[in-house]
Amino acid sequence: MKAEKKKLISVIDIGTSKVTTLIGELKGDGTVGLLGVGVAPSEGVKKGIVTDMDKTAESIYQSVNAAEKEAGQVMVSAIIGITGDHVAANTSRGFTKVADPSKGVSAEDMRRAVESASRLLLPPDKQVVGIVEQDFSVDGHGGIRYPQGMSGGKLEVEVQIVTAATASVQNLARCIGKLKIDIESYELASMASGEAVLNEDEKEIGTVLIDFGAGTTEVAVFRNKLLRKARVFPVGSRHIDNDIALVLCTSAREAERLKLEYGMAYVDDSVGSEPVMLEHVGGEKKAQIPRGHLCEIIYDRVFELFKLIAHDLETDMPMSLTPTGVVLTGGGSQLPGITRVAEQVLGMNVRIGKPLYTGDHADQVSGPEFSTPVGLLRIAARNAMHRTVAAGSEGFSARRMLNEATSFLRGLFNKID
Ligand SMILES: Nc1ncnc2c1ncn2[C@@H]1O[C@H](COP(=O)(O)OP(=O)(O)OP(=O)(O)O)[C@@H](O)[C@H]1O
Ligand SMILES: [Mg+2]
Repeated sequence: MKAEKKKLISVIDIGTSKVTTLIGELKGDGTVGLLGVGVAPSEGVKKGIVTDMDKTAESIYQSVNAAEKEAGQVMVSAIIGITGDHVAANTSRGFTKVADPSKGVSAEDMRRAVESASRLLLPPDKQVVGIVEQDFSVDGHGGIRYPQGMSGGKLEVEVQIVTAATASVQNLARCIGKLKIDIESYELASMASGEAVLNEDEKEIGTVLIDFGAGTTEVAVFRNKLLRKARVFPVGSRHIDNDIALVLCTSAREAERLKLEYGMAYVDDSVGSEPVMLEHVGGEKKAQIPRGHLCEIIYDRVFELFKLIAHDLETDMPMSLTPTGVVLTGGGSQLPGITRVAEQVLGMNVRIGKPLYTGDHADQVSGPEFSTPVGLLRIAARNAMHRTVAAGSEGFSARRMLNEATSFLRGLFNKID
């Protein structure tokens, strides 16, 4: 009997500190089993943005290669996580007249409504990279996910449009293009992290997701199962290393070691006077400092970061909209005491979120630094299921429309290359 061909889904998360590639297999029930995990140190990425294409392409190659070897499969296409403070998600509204009210809302009406919502006036250096499906309303009655077939004369839609700096997207595309991997779509990294760590109640009732990475901190607000806001701050855990290096006159590498071995997000009196040895720049001179001094440097940076986030949330996301509080994830969330500082500044409950994946190879992606890639894999699985269901049907999917738009964009990149 001929073995059935595996349905592969692949994702790449290009972070500031590491590139993670996951290759999974889509199962019949829509779940995904991991086949291969590839993690490589990331070179050439700063604050989530490609600054050296050759180095980034090499890091991606290393990561993809490792995942392919473990999976025993070759990757031909992937979903890519996108981040950086040039990335924004904006709510946009569109509407259309229902073409034939006697037949109800058609897939074509839905497509037209989303298309009108995605006609944004963007500056020439920005482009649309994604559309996150939101609510439809028919004749003013909102909260409808799938209005197809419903009676009415006017169809309105609210979508979240993800935009990014054209140059950054092109650089990312060129790096991946060098490996002859097709880009299926770009997905917001914070949206992916939310998919990986939030449970259904948290997404429904209202939760703030914070992914504290190496070069960026991504904030995404979920409510009624929808993404309500997304923002990327160009500040990550590596900034703590820079502060330590500057104040204690040491290298960034030594600063990270101090953070990982002795760092805490606040000064704990019981360990504050503990001596910590460090190497000065050049590695010749050694010095001793009280651990409390190190923790003060860390506290200042973490406090400032949460202040920034609190200020940003205050503008349009009152706490009443996110009653479950904050879920903190990303590699930086492993800093001892960080939830305490986050609670103090944000005034909400804070828990640490780790990927909710329990299948094959789960031990390799169980830490909070893998929330984005695991979430991308979930999104990839969902997209693949949508494609399977929609294939041959007249069904509408904003994602499918986006896939078409992505192919168009890819055409443009090819021309530029
Ligand atoms: N136990 C720990 N305590 C404190 N910080 C940690 C710990 N483990 C990892 N980190 C920090 O987490 C950061 C890496 O996080 P992560 O892997 O989420 O970043 P990234 O995805 O590569 O970057 P970004 O998303 O910002 O582009 C590093 O700065 C690292 O020092
Ligand atoms: Mg990250």
